[in-house]
Amino acid sequence: MTVKQKVWVSRPLFPEVLAKLSEHLDVQAEAIERKHTPEQLRERLRQVDGAVIGLGDRVDAAVLEGNERLRVIANLAVGYNNFDLPAMTRAGVLACNTPDVLNETVADYAWALMLAASRRIGAAERWLRAGQWSNQQRFDDWLGVDVHGKTLGILGMGRIGQAIARRAAGFDMRVLYHNRSRLPEPIERECRATLVGKDELLKQADHLILVLPYSKASHHAIGAAELALMKRTAVLVNVARGGIVDEVALAAALREGRLGAAGLDVFEGEPAVHPDLLALDNALLSPHIASASEDTRRAMASLAADNVLAALGYGPHAGRPAT
Ligand code: DGY
Repeated sequence: MTVKQKVWVSRPLFPEVLAKLSEHLDVQAEAIERKHTPEQLRERLRQVDGAVIGLGDRVDAAVLEGNERLRVIANLAVGYNNFDLPAMTRAGVLACNTPDVLNETVADYAWALMLAASRRIGAAERWLRAGQWSNQQRFDDWLGVDVHGKTLGILGMGRIGQAIARRAAGFDMRVLYHNRSRLPEPIERECRATLVGKDELLKQADHLILVLPYSKASHHAIGAAELALMKRTAVLVNVARGGIVDEVALAAALREGRLGAAGLDVFEGEPAVHPDLLALDNALLSPHIASASEDTRRAMASLAADNVLAALGYGPHAGRPAT
């Protein structure tokens, strides 16, 4: 009898995905969601050939030290800022992510945040549920800013940024973007998007959506200086990573009326949210759920499983290594 290779799944996953892994591998799956300490992670990873983990678990040199067995880690996310790629390469561990399958769902969600933050839907719902709606409501209460006909700015024009841009045609918006490199012309045309410098983007956008990857270079890419360039009525949406925004500077701008509203799905210290943001009615906050539709989370889990299976020698190579 051949001994199956072992895979550790760090968080609860869909039964059909665990079943797919179990056809070839000995699966150890956590039944509850929790963030692991580096020591716990190190210990778990030492006992397996492959792993499926979430963004809350950081893989670095210390976690991999002395691990001769591990061959692959599949991230349940497209972003992989929780991976120290050079350390993984040195340790001979393949890093995989889940690109493409979530593009449209995250784009939908970025739009949901933009629309809801612009029209103050979160605050209005809290107010209604608190029983404050009465005949006294004024005609000029709850005024928001329009989305249709305005200028949409997109910082980071990868595939998710492009999916966000394509939706703007239905709202008759002008689309500006800033990116490391210019998109090929046919894609620019399809997205009806124009490349501008970062400062220009900040100055002109009525709605600014952040979709750039997180790295040392993009840490606090939106801070006090950048916020000062934006319109006082502008709406900022972040579906990328919390660390891209200086949250203290953002909260101050929102509190002092130097920025209109924000829709944030990601936070620098998540799952903790900065108290300054929690105190604001013009900040719409959600718990990193941009990719959380039924279909997409199943597709992400399935792709992560395919990545592990392929790396360990089973099935077609359905995913792409992040390295
Ligand atoms: C990812 O997968 O990296 C995103 O954070 C999903 O929202």
